[in-house]
Amino acid sequence: MKLKVLPERFLLIVLLKLFELSFCFCELNPYRHVVIPDPDGNYRLEWLVDWEQERVIFNITVNTRGMVGFGLALKANRTGADIVLGGVGKDGRSYFSDRHSFGNGLPTIDEYQDYILHEARERNSQTFLSFSRPFDTCDEDQDLPISNDLLTIIWGYSDIDLDDEAQSDFQHTGTFQAYLLDPDLAPRNERGEVVRLENENIEGGTKVFNITGRMERVPIQETTYWCNYHRVPTKSKQHIIGFNPVLPTESDTRHIHHLILYRCYAPAGMNPETFYEGHTRNGGHECYINAEPETMAATYCSEVLYAWAVGGRAIFLPEHVGLPMSENGMEYFMLETHYDNPNLLPNLNVSITLEAYYTVEIRPNDVGVLWIGQLSPGATTLVIPPDSTNHIALGHCASECTRQAFGNKPIHIIATLLHTHTSGAGVRALHFRGQTELPWINGDDNYNFNYQQFRILKQERTVLPGDQLIMRCVYDVSTRNSSAVTGGFSTRQEMCNTLLFYYNRLLGVSNCLSEIRSEEYFRLLGVSNITWDRPAKDMVVRHPPEFSGLTMRDYTNDHIEWDVEMRNELERQQIFGPQVSMCPNARPGDGEDTPDGSESNSLGDGAEEDSEFISRLPTGTPRYTRPPQCTRRGE
Ligand SMILES: *[C@@H]1O[C@H](CO)[C@@H](O)[C@H](O)[C@H]1NC(C)=O
Ligand SMILES: *[C@@H]1O[C@H](CO)[C@@H](O)[C@H](O)[C@H]1NC(C)=O
Ligand SMILES: *[C@@H]1O[C@H](CO)[C@@H](O)[C@H](O)[C@H]1NC(C)=O
Ligand SMILES: *[C@@H]1O[C@H](CO)[C@@H](O)[C@H](O)[C@H]1NC(C)=O
Ligand SMILES: *[C@@H]1O[C@H](CO)[C@@H](O)[C@H](O)[C@H]1NC(C)=O
Ligand SMILES: *[C@@H]1O[C@H](CO)[C@@H](O)[C@H](O)[C@H]1NC(C)=O
Repeated sequence: MKLKVLPERFLLIVLLKLFELSFCFCELNPYRHVVIPDPDGNYRLEWLVDWEQERVIFNITVNTRGMVGFGLALKANRTGADIVLGGVGKDGRSYFSDRHSFGNGLPTIDEYQDYILHEARERNSQTFLSFSRPFDTCDEDQDLPISNDLLTIIWGYSDIDLDDEAQSDFQHTGTFQAYLLDPDLAPRNERGEVVRLENENIEGGTKVFNITGRMERVPIQETTYWCNYHRVPTKSKQHIIGFNPVLPTESDTRHIHHLILYRCYAPAGMNPETFYEGHTRNGGHECYINAEPETMAATYCSEVLYAWAVGGRAIFLPEHVGLPMSENGMEYFMLETHYDNPNLLPNLNVSITLEAYYTVEIRPNDVGVLWIGQLSPGATTLVIPPDSTNHIALGHCASECTRQAFGNKPIHIIATLLHTHTSGAGVRALHFRGQTELPWINGDDNYNFNYQQFRILKQERTVLPGDQLIMRCVYDVSTRNSSAVTGGFSTRQEMCNTLLFYYNRLLGVSNCLSEIRSEEYFRLLGVSNITWDRPAKDMVVRHPPEFSGLTMRDYTNDHIEWDVEMRNELERQQIFGPQVSMCPNARPGDGEDTPDGSESNSLGDGAEEDSEFISRLPTGTPRYTRPPQCTRRGE
């Protein structure tokens, strides 16, 4: 078996290297998490995943002598929340109960008490609770299962105890979101913050490269994709081992929707310095949407290295992999930042800094990043009927593509970033070998656009040449005022794709994306030629002539009759219809040696020329389903 459990030694090594810094990793375990969600710093939550017992242990320390609350919910409100309350009363005796809530006020006691209290104490005006529960308590009605899906964590406390008559609700409360079961390899202090590992003076020490996207006056338009250029700080091969996105203010968090970091290559025969150095000083330019055709620099920055989206936290790689930087000497990165200005504010001044941690100590494997799913903006492939609450659409990486791109070596996936825009409700990266569906590479049936995270997998996933990968997205457009939603760059339009971090890196490969172009599908939609229109910043119909010039948004809203047959047939074709999968023509990388320096950092024209294959969802065998975690209790 190629599956590797994530190493814990990584943090230890980091710690030993930084002996002079005084912080404490009291337990070097990627499944031990610390969060202080309370802005006043009074509530500290620590949790530990026990995979053997399939339980989670929670330790909570609160600066109060009153009641402490904790809960899980699907959305950021208390409807249907699974809550526990505990503390130490005035009589010195502890109290603790498993409850559920349907809104405000004190939650109701559950019929079954599934949380187990290990310890409750009150000391120096602090209350400490330690309790645990199984991943799935089997109490479908009154508890929520802890799974691979995103959960909202509710924290709360009161300065009076539960039995106090004045007690009616938490006096202090809030929520945050988390994948409770995911590993976290970022080096953090006892407050859960990423510690800066910078050590410029130690050979082999970790250094930080700050890559900043700054916009002192965000354009007065809803959506701006801005690209700027950065020269990497070294000229010899290094490994990037982690990224920490830093958004200094709340306004930055609100108006910066995502960033993507790309590696740049110079056109064949050109020196990267000549080609890019000037661009590092001119502040950048708008990408895609308003890009001038003569803005050629961006077209050569095609290799995705990292992506962050709203809500994402720091990511650090396991110790056997690193993301190569300046393999062939001087190198440039391009940072694409998506600014969101829906209220058209005139003086929006925002910035984000991506701290890239790197080291000269090369790890055994080079990481590559592969982008799979639907080609964006995909305004034809992705059409979501008005008022749909669970409309499904797919994007393919055909088995011919993986066969062609991987050569004869498998790849090993270590992390994913599953991505849609605001209507995304569920995402899964599916994996097929022949007609057989393997477990999902990753997935989240409670997807939240506002919390997108590069997620390290608990176990690496091996993908063989010839395997088929499919991104599956579920959309809920019920809040969109009965409008159809089409694919596009704006957060209010949609996407369906995922980034895969993997090793056995493939050189010159970054995308494996698909779109639907079948005549049957175009006939159903009633349009057959749709192209990107710069002035409209949208996909615009060109054929048939009577609809020519309409955006897909307007066309799908005003000229499609959304009856039940149309909805069903559209979804049927989006799920089962043939897709054109665009495959990269890869040169398989050997993952360790740098290629011959003569073509230093340049990519010959057409190095990633696509070839196309028709791909379909395999339907021959039963689909993978999550194994049931428990049988119904009580019987
Ligand atoms: C939680 O608290 C208990 C009791 O103090 C302690 O033994 C345990 O190590 C703590 N667990 C974590 C994850 O910190
Ligand atoms: C709260 O979340 C639930 C889903 O858990 C949702 O159905 C409900 O509409 C939400 N209520 C409010 C007031 O947002
Ligand atoms: C990098 O950015 C951080 C803030 O994110 C800052 O504290 C640090 O000084 C910067 N380092 C350099 C070398 O600019
Ligand atoms: C934008 O903000 C930065 C940092 O807060 C500040 O230094 C700069 O002067 C501001 N620019 C404008 C145009 O307000
Ligand atoms: C929703 O659509 C109706 C009818 O098209 C329109 O009158 C109304 O202004 C829209 N509301 C919003 C919030 O967009
Ligand atoms: C689609 O329309 C564009 C713009 O009018 C045109 O240049 C292109 O040739 C058309 N494509 C096809 C396949 O007809």
